[in-house]
Amino acid sequence: MTKIRAAITGVHGYVPDYILTNQELETMVETNDEWIQSRTGIKERRILKGEGKGVSEIGVKAVKGLLEKTNTKPEEIDLVICATVTGDMIFPDTANVVCDKVGIKNAFTFDINAACSGFLFAITTGSQFIATGMYKKVIVIGMDKMSSIIDYKDRATCIIFGDGGGAVLLEPNEEGMGFQDAELKSNGEGRHYLNMKAGGSAYPATAETVAAREHYAYQEGRTVFKHAVRGMSDAVSKIMKRNHLTNENMAWLVPHQANMRIITSVASAADFPMEKVMVNIEKYGNTTAGTLPLCLWEWESQLKKGDNIILTAFGGGFTWGAVYLKWAY
Ligand code: COA
Repeated sequence: MTKIRAAITGVHGYVPDYILTNQELETMVETNDEWIQSRTGIKERRILKGEGKGVSEIGVKAVKGLLEKTNTKPEEIDLVICATVTGDMIFPDTANVVCDKVGIKNAFTFDINAACSGFLFAITTGSQFIATGMYKKVIVIGMDKMSSIIDYKDRATCIIFGDGGGAVLLEPNEEGMGFQDAELKSNGEGRHYLNMKAGGSAYPATAETVAAREHYAYQEGRTVFKHAVRGMSDAVSKIMKRNHLTNENMAWLVPHQANMRIITSVASAADFPMEKVMVNIEKYGNTTAGTLPLCLWEWESQLKKGDNIILTAFGGGFTWGAVYLKWAY
């Protein structure tokens, strides 16, 4: 019997219009364009503005565009998984909110909270439902509205993050294309170095947690940096070895866009030429679960059927990993 694999059959992204430049950040915190560009590679990021506009706004735009370009009717979708750490509300899940706004009525939905690795975890999960034959059309969304949890008085974090994301459609493929392998890891010890302390059940919102600025993302930049390089390099190396991939038979490396120096370190550890590495960090910064689908969306026209692609990410948790897929169209 032919093996069924989940293949991406379409991708669509969305970034909000408002551009927050390094120059504007210079007016908000003690920083400068030269420092930001040389330490991170970021020139600007997008911000979703507007009262009551949650991350689902990004998801709705991405999913509507995806359905349109793949000629898929909302009612055909079986499952929607949304990777985000900035859901519209703590509950219900944001995948559910997106479905309501788009008119997806016959699906079940859930969110995955794995920070910057969310899209990897979600696409691996969604792929299993296709591979078992249980479902035919699964949408995986990766997106974040990081501006909702960023302290624009903290120069070490506010320069990095932005808002945006994208969605992919997964469908069965019997030609060997699509999802091939995944190397995924979590280590809860990392929670001390990258987190948002308050707003959950341990420290529910109070006047004190707000005053202490504990509803914002906190990170120990240097520690995260080291673990990110090690985690992604290790996952990429394992998946390449296991699948007999080399820098010659690989078409693209799609790394999480956290810091340009992290990206070049991971590419160099895999001995991978930068021309084959997707990089758009200068335009969007780190959109957390949004970076990987945004890259696939931007490079979609350059991808060819059969291309070997590795996606890799590292994020809060800690969580990290790599996914190997063969592009299907
Ligand atoms: N502008 C100017 N100076 C800044 C600054 C800013 N925006 N942010 C920090 N600095 C200063 C620090 O205060 C420090 O000054 P000091 O030496 O006088 O103490 C100096 O720059 C170096 O700080 P450091 O934190 O060591 O810088 P860094 O080279 O590690 O860069 C990060 C900081 C945050 C850019 C970097 O650590 C990083 O990208 N980490 C990973 C973050 C990440 O990827 N998070 C998401 C997880 S997926």
